[in-house]
This record gives sequence, C-alpha cells and structure tokens, in this order.
Amino acid sequence: MDKGHIEINGVTKIFRRTDGIETLTALDNVNLDIKPGEFVSFVGSSGCGKSTMLRIIAGLEVPTIGKAICDGEEITGTSSKRGLVFQDHALFPWLTVWDNVLFGLKSTGKGKEKQELAEYLLKLVGLENFKKSYPYQLSGGMSQRVALVRALANEPDVLLLDEPLGALDAFTRMSIQDVLIDLWKERNNTMILITHDVDEAIYLSQRVVVMSPRPGRVIENLKIELPYPRNRSDLNFTYYRNHILEQLDFAHKAGQIEYVI
Ligand SMILES: Nc1ncnc2c1ncn2[C@@H]1O[C@H](COP(=O)(O)OP(=O)(O)OP(=O)(O)O)[C@@H](O)[C@H]1O
Ligand SMILES: [Mg+2]
Repeated sequence: MDKGHIEINGVTKIFRRTDGIETLTALDNVNLDIKPGEFVSFVGSSGCGKSTMLRIIAGLEVPTIGKAICDGEEITGTSSKRGLVFQDHALFPWLTVWDNVLFGLKSTGKGKEKQELAEYLLKLVGLENFKKSYPYQLSGGMSQRVALVRALANEPDVLLLDEPLGALDAFTRMSIQDVLIDLWKERNNTMILITHDVDEAIYLSQRVVVMSPRPGRVIENLKIELPYPRNRSDLNFTYYRNHILEQLDFAHKAGQIEYVI
C-alpha cells in the first residue's frame, strides 16, 4: 500500500486559555515524515501535546502555524481515510457488536465485501461469537477490540490510536498488542499510536518519537531495529527501553514545572 503518507511540516499549536488573553503553546515547530504503512509511536509526559498532534492529523484541530499533509493534500477536516480509536472505546451502548462494527460503513454502503471484511476482522480478534452481544455484556478488553475492528472495517489508510489500551490490565493489554500487530501486518496501513507505556511503544513500532514536556517538541526519532515478533526480555529491547526512559527523564527534569493554584 502506498497510501497513508503523513507529513507534519513546522506545526505549532497555540491554544487560548479561557480568559482569552493568555495563550498556551501545546506544540512547537514539530516536523515529521511518516511513511505509508509505517508503525510509529509517540511517547512523552502528560500534557506534552500528543493528543493535540493526533487530533491535527485526524483533522479535528487546525495548526496555528504549519501544515499537516496526508498523501500530498493538506489536512483540513476529518476523513474516513484516517480512523481514530480513543482510550474510552465509545461503542454505542444501544447497538450490538455487529451493528457497532457496521455503523461507520453506513455512509459508504454496507456492501457484501465490507461485511465479509468486518466478519473476518472480528474473527481475527477472537470475537466472532459475540456479534449479537451488547457492549454492557463485554469486558473492557473485548470492547476495545470491537472498537479496533470498527475503525479498521472502514479500511482507513491511517489508523490513529490515542492510548487505546491505557485502561486495560497488563495481560489483556499484551494480548491486544499482538492483535494490533496482526491487524497491521494484515492491512498494512499506517499506524500512529500514542502511549504512556514505553514497552508497548518498543514492542509495536518501527519508530518511537519522544516528545518534550510543554511545549511539545520532538526530542528524538528512534528507529527500533528489531524483528517481529519482539521479545520484551531481549537485550536490545532493554537497551531501547533504558534509552527512551533516560530521554524522558532528562526532558522531564529540564522541563518547566508549572503550578496552578
Ligand atoms: N482545546 C483546548 N483548549 C485549550 N487548551 C488545550 C486544548 N486541548 C489541549 N490543550 C492543552 O494543550 C496541552 C497539550 O494537551 P494534549 O491533550 O495534547 O496532551 P497529551 O500529551 O495528550 O497529554 P496526556 O498524556 O495527559 O493525554 C495541555 O496543556 C492542554 O491543557
Ligand atoms: Mg492525550
């Protein structure tokens, strides 16, 4: 697949605070080039602008300065080419798993092919027997898998994942990490993941972008040169983990601490 190329060119995002006078710089001159089919993760302390970055790529926010570009076109609004999955999976409680998965497909028409793909994806995440269940009948991990399937059933060129596994226990998390790799290998789309979990970033991605505390800047673009499936206790894995943690710690100490009373 040669679609799903994301370019972030000199992106600065400044928010106005509620008083309308003070401003807050969430992102400061961020430049990135994310290749089609690449799996990239962002790590950085809370408030460093990760979600803002993802929302800009999704087309939900507009940069104050600079541009976000998808496949050569400036991003000016949302598009089904760029799917989004949040931490709180936000399934529709009144719809079954199957109808939740097909929901986004309504606009593009629920063709037979799309239904087959949805069916196939549900099987891939081990939920083929839960099509008729309602969200309240599922565990958090199951709901999150449904949310991933729903996003992928639209066949996005880019999947934007904002801490999608953040609320899950360690075991469920690890099993869904494997599901994510399977889905990515299968669909070969661009994956952009935000996570607080350094191990998760190394386990999943080809590149880890480390961001500084506010204002968010890219402090490192680290290629993870390990074959899949990765082994968390591998020496090289440990090397990457220590390196990223050092960067985060260093950036954190160097960052300004703000107190709001
Ligand atoms: N709509 C908004 N209006 C004003 N300020 C905002 C808005 N959205 C985000 N911010 C501010 O921008 C900064 C970055 O927020 P963002 O949500 O991108 O951080 P984050 O890195 O995703 O943090 P976390 O890891 O806690 O999710 C924060 O200081 C936040 O208060
Ligand atoms: Mg966030």
